[in-house]
Amino acid sequence: MAHDDAAAAPRLDIARCPLADINSFDPDLLQDPYVFYRRLREEAPVFRDPKTGIVSVATYDLIMEVNRQPMVFSNNFGEALRAGSVGGMDPEELAILSEGVTVANTMLTADPPDHTRYRKLAMKAFTHKRVEQMGDYVAQVTNDLIDRFIDDGYCEFKSAFANHLPMTVIADALGAPRADMDRFHRWSDAFVVQLGGVSDRETRLEAARRIVEFQRYFIERIEEKRANPTEDVISDLVHANLAEEGDPRAMDYSELLSILQQLLVAGNETTSHTLTAGLYYLTADPALRARVTADPSLIPSFVEETLRLLSPTNNMWRVATRDADIGGFPIRKGEVLLVRYGSGNRDAHRFIDPDAFDPARPDARDHLAFGAGIHTCIGAQLARKEMITAFPIIIERLNNPRFAAGRNAFRYNPNILLRGVLELHVEFDR
Ligand code: HEM
Repeated sequence: MAHDDAAAAPRLDIARCPLADINSFDPDLLQDPYVFYRRLREEAPVFRDPKTGIVSVATYDLIMEVNRQPMVFSNNFGEALRAGSVGGMDPEELAILSEGVTVANTMLTADPPDHTRYRKLAMKAFTHKRVEQMGDYVAQVTNDLIDRFIDDGYCEFKSAFANHLPMTVIADALGAPRADMDRFHRWSDAFVVQLGGVSDRETRLEAARRIVEFQRYFIERIEEKRANPTEDVISDLVHANLAEEGDPRAMDYSELLSILQQLLVAGNETTSHTLTAGLYYLTADPALRARVTADPSLIPSFVEETLRLLSPTNNMWRVATRDADIGGFPIRKGEVLLVRYGSGNRDAHRFIDPDAFDPARPDARDHLAFGAGIHTCIGAQLARKEMITAFPIIIERLNNPRFAAGRNAFRYNPNILLRGVLELHVEFDR
């Protein structure tokens, strides 16, 4: 972010120290990784960290090169991560998880041909037409959420609004009761801990317990929908005809739970962080807010620019299936890679003045915030619909927003994959 650099200073002099000395999992570095990213792009666009063996890919073009070769740079990275590339899995954590279902590799963590089959099924649930019809519904949810705190003239926006809009939309789409929303938040947080690779042991053990709880809950919902199908995604998935995809059987729990967990997590935290970042930019920069308010046709590119600068999926894993190279840099079979979308989105060879927020940037939509290639986000249209619907309402109702004095630490979630501030306290006129 152009404005997000108020975070705590990292202990090392990131601008000058050898790249090899930088711990890219350091929670302090994760507060503001952009100097590090710039150095990676300029000095070592493909960089093998001698401490971890993890290979970073930092420029826009090289990230595209990786994503164009999904059979070489595989998304089936779970095994490599569990095998110890980023610390390995604790035996107690494994024991807790073994009380639940071992989930299959489906969309995000699968390669073709499995990936193609599961993705086709999930895409049916989020058709263009279905999402396009959701505008009034999203506006209603947005207004209902704002009604809860508007009279206070103050809110902690992430917990009061941004966490709830995407979670409500996804829970409704799945056909899961809204009354259970608090549990969905708990479970979504648990998956984020598991993906992030930087949590302490107790947090990881607690996350494992919650994941097993999630599985038990959704197995019950699956059985309900199997007996009594309704108009929703769980029913669609339970009754999906895999025969059309060359696999004549119903999906089992390990596949269904994998898809459901991806929809729950991927659709929640990312959108929530982007909504929060959008309000952050509008609050930090009254001129930007005035411009977008005066010309609502700028809202879609305001959303794209927020996505580009925040890159809520800041990094994503890959694993090399064979010896290969990226831009001439040799990669060995089995090596774990991080494609750094947050860095590619600020690549000066791709975007003019890349750290600046330009709500009229003509190529804003070319960002990598939704990835690229066969794993491009299946929820991109839904996320855009939510944000393009919600922001005009937020701008209108949270009038003249200010950062609440003394309450904002602007701390980012110390997660290697998912980026966003943990809290945003704002005051506004009613
Ligand atoms: C601002 C919101 C969102 C952002 C920034 C985002 C970002 C991403 C990114 C970067 C990927 C590609 C990962 C890779 O390269 O391997 C991805 C994949 C995915 N996203 Fe999203 N996402 C968002 C919202 C959603 C929503 C609302 C849903 C669900 C409805 C969703 C479901 C998925 C799924 C299932 C995948 C895996 C697709 C595949 O592997 O084929 N996402 N997302």
